[in-house]
Amino acid sequence: MKNFFLTLHMLSMCLVVGTLFLQSLTVVFRLRLKSHDEVVGVRKIQKRIHKFIYYPILVVTLFSGAYLAVKTEAFAHGAWLGPKLGLLVVLIALGFQNGRQIEKDSLPKKYAMMVHIGIFLIAGAMIYLATVKPF
Ligand code: HEM
Repeated sequence: MKNFFLTLHMLSMCLVVGTLFLQSLTVVFRLRLKSHDEVVGVRKIQKRIHKFIYYPILVVTLFSGAYLAVKTEAFAHGAWLGPKLGLLVVLIALGFQNGRQIEKDSLPKKYAMMVHIGIFLIAGAMIYLATVKPF
């Protein structure tokens, strides 16, 4: 059963990180569109992805991660899990920010790009902590 949840955790976390990475980039690309109709069309697709792919797959990642944490007793033995969960809070906050930017162009291009880069760096640090387990 552990292998099943580990596989599920890997697959779902790839989709969570990949979805956020691309969604935050399409927010930047959308700022370049000239026609109102194009913006409306792109926003509709972004909203559907955020609602029907990002949130459900995030729930799968959280549940499979919690199962693994209990099964491997990682809370007792792995000091890496605490920082990883701290970064998870930041990643989820960036996901909320991405959702707000999908609703309306709330940030100028420079800051919208920073959200995108932030998602990349936070996800990279989480994957480093979970795979290398440095402490
Ligand atoms: C987007 C969020 C998350 C990402 C990107 C992520 C990433 C990863 C990665 C890459 C691994 C692979 C480690 C390996 O076997 O090489 C892993 C394992 C693990 N994750 Fe997550 N994770 C996330 C959320 C969570 C959550 C919410 C929890 C706990 C509540 C959790 C608990 C664990 C545990 C305990 C393992 C180790 C399993 C083992 O050592 O066999 N993860 N995670």
